[in-house]
Amino acid sequence: MTNHSSPMKIVVVGHVDHGKSTLVGRILNETGALPDGKVEYLKEVCEKRGMPFEWAFVMDALQAERDQGITIDTAQIRFRTASRPYVIIDAPGHKEFLKNMITGAASAEAAVLVIDAHEGVQEQSRRHGYLLHLLGLRQIAVAVNKMDLVDFDEARFNVVKAEIVAYLNSIGVEPTYVVPVAARSGANISSKAAETPWYNGPSVLEALDRFEQARPATDMPLRLPVQDVYKFDQRRIIAGRIESGRLKVGDTLMFAPSGKSARIASIENWGGTGIQAVSAVAGQSVGLTLDEQIFVERGQIASLREAAPTISHTLTARLFWLGHQALKVGSRYKLKLATAEYAVEVVEIQRVIDVEDLANHQGAEVGRNAVAEVVFRSKAPIAHDSFIDNPRLGRFVVVEGYDIVGGGVIAEQEGAAERLDHKSTNITMVNHKISTEVRAVSNGHRGGVVWLTGLSGAGKSTISMEVERQLFLKGWQVTVLDGDNVRHGLCSDLGFSPDDRAENIRRVGEAAHLFAEAGMLVVTAFISPYRADRDRVRTIRPAAFHEVYIATTLDECERRDPKGLYKKARAGEISEFTGVTAPYEEPDAPELTVATEGKSVDETVAELLRYIESNFSLSAREQAVGWGL
Ligand code: ADX
Repeated sequence: MTNHSSPMKIVVVGHVDHGKSTLVGRILNETGALPDGKVEYLKEVCEKRGMPFEWAFVMDALQAERDQGITIDTAQIRFRTASRPYVIIDAPGHKEFLKNMITGAASAEAAVLVIDAHEGVQEQSRRHGYLLHLLGLRQIAVAVNKMDLVDFDEARFNVVKAEIVAYLNSIGVEPTYVVPVAARSGANISSKAAETPWYNGPSVLEALDRFEQARPATDMPLRLPVQDVYKFDQRRIIAGRIESGRLKVGDTLMFAPSGKSARIASIENWGGTGIQAVSAVAGQSVGLTLDEQIFVERGQIASLREAAPTISHTLTARLFWLGHQALKVGSRYKLKLATAEYAVEVVEIQRVIDVEDLANHQGAEVGRNAVAEVVFRSKAPIAHDSFIDNPRLGRFVVVEGYDIVGGGVIAEQEGAAERLDHKSTNITMVNHKISTEVRAVSNGHRGGVVWLTGLSGAGKSTISMEVERQLFLKGWQVTVLDGDNVRHGLCSDLGFSPDDRAENIRRVGEAAHLFAEAGMLVVTAFISPYRADRDRVRTIRPAAFHEVYIATTLDECERRDPKGLYKKARAGEISEFTGVTAPYEEPDAPELTVATEGKSVDETVAELLRYIESNFSLSAREQAVGWGL
């Protein structure tokens, strides 16, 4: 157990009838957290009214004891043991409670689950147990309450204990302690009770004291979401707030999801102190310069190589939905995580939880004020942490138009996630003496990658070769990378399995971006059937990447069959042929779609040329400024 000045945050869950309020009232009494005379006063009131005193009444009296700085709708009840301060996070009703917890407005480090020894594990207890899973809590003390009603019977305790442990285990929750308790009489609340000589474990408060407090943000791995990149003369300053961890001059930062890395050259004088810092920690806003001019942009997350965030295209999340329109599979939103924004689609709704009774539904949609477990898929890879690993990078909001329609936390990801992994080490980037800007001015157009994707026979090669010819005639620096050609050399070792295609596209993507950096307009003609592969190429340098869908139906491609390959594929002579025995995933939101059916080659070429010229040409003004005229 570490000693922190900030209080340990806990939640107490369980049915009111199972004695949740009584337990909390007792805890406050045992730890001296109640104002002097409060209990005596309440006892007196009860006597006058001829009703028995209940510890739960103390809870009502707490209204006035609430903390000054409470977040809206959250009650924070404080107490202190000999070891450390605590705060019980609570909110009126399940809805507010869940909203605060799921959106990360409040987060607990440990929980007490209260169960009635007499009634045993009920549907309600299961739902409250499920809550613990939903909140991703791992430190849990189960208080089997009202032991006085079952004569402190060890056998009865063991039955209830076995039931709840079995249920919690079935949902992946491992209770740390199960304590027999009589909140009304105070048995096993703060110290071992005489009534349970057969019990050797800790009391409720002892159990809490044994739990680990979350590590302070400064002790967690470095996470610096890039807020902005400022250009001053030759220098570029990367600005952002350190969300967790620490950094110092000389550290090698790795930027996710691009995987590019460089060393911190300086921490700029931030805040006008005139003193250059050599290190900085969580909570501070910094401006950094790097020793190499790598491409960095807003939304990327800087970390140290040893402890990088997870990268994945899908995110499993627990979500509180606030939208007037229900969330459905197939709905698209903007997901904001730290300083990044991602276009996401809901691909699965795993569970919908009714916030009134915490019942579990298999739902096709998530209505307003419901909690759900959903899977999002993003066009671009998302750098993130699970909420448990790092609350600051593990939470997000969902935006539709300009409205926040939901908030949530990221669950631990299974399978899909990959860690950034670089085999090349001891490498340093060398800077060009000719910048991309200078090249653009000299060429009269910017460099970039125009990525054509579509079925075999869609027209990619034909269109790209004609576009190349026409741009060349206009004096452009232009080239085409074509699937069939590249597969004769650079990628001759690759076949058509999903893995080989991924590697094909990765190599070509890297090569295309290198040409683009050299100022060229690169048109690529690859089927590139997998969305994830294309999206990975986009991340190399998003601003320079333009995805163009050459949209031709399979029927039409098969009718054209320029190389006779569809016929062969249908005859079973080619395996894994795109469109026949292998999938083609259409782009979600390409920069341009060129439909080819019913159009001449000239028409489709003209469409693409218009797009390229309007997006890559330098305006007369840009040229003039570039030439210093
Ligand atoms: S990709 O899927 O990895 O992007 P790429 O564009 O390089 O494919 O290569 C596609 C070309 O390879 C097709 O135009 C076709 O001529 C040839 N080819 C041979 N076998 C296959 C196959 N199984 N699937 C698709 N194309 C194939």
